[in-house]
Amino acid sequence: MADWIDIAATTECPPGKSIERVAANAMVALANVDGQFYAIDGLCPHQGGPLGTGDLCGIVLTCPWHGWQFDVTTGQHRYAANVRQQTYEVKVESGRVFVRKDNSDAAMQGGHSE
Ligand code: FES
Repeated sequence: MADWIDIAATTECPPGKSIERVAANAMVALANVDGQFYAIDGLCPHQGGPLGTGDLCGIVLTCPWHGWQFDVTTGQHRYAANVRQQTYEVKVESGRVFVRKDNSDAAMQGGHSE
């Protein structure tokens, strides 16, 4: 199992927002849904847009480049069943947000992987 990676202070990503961070050389989109943090692969599978800098509405994160939308709780594209982003496990300790790849997700399809 991968190590936890410290990617942000909780205050950097307030409720209703998402931010872009790097974890182990991978872009991560960190989203705060009403105080609960979720993290998915931050590189949009369409053309590589920066998902973390998109708009978050509820659990839906919209890519700022062409509007692809993802459920941040699952990584699932909102309309294309075969497109799903890698998700990360998230924990919060002492005001910091840590992530690690969720390798238990055997259903990952379509989205790129390393
Ligand atoms: S790069 Fe994200 S929608 Fe096109």
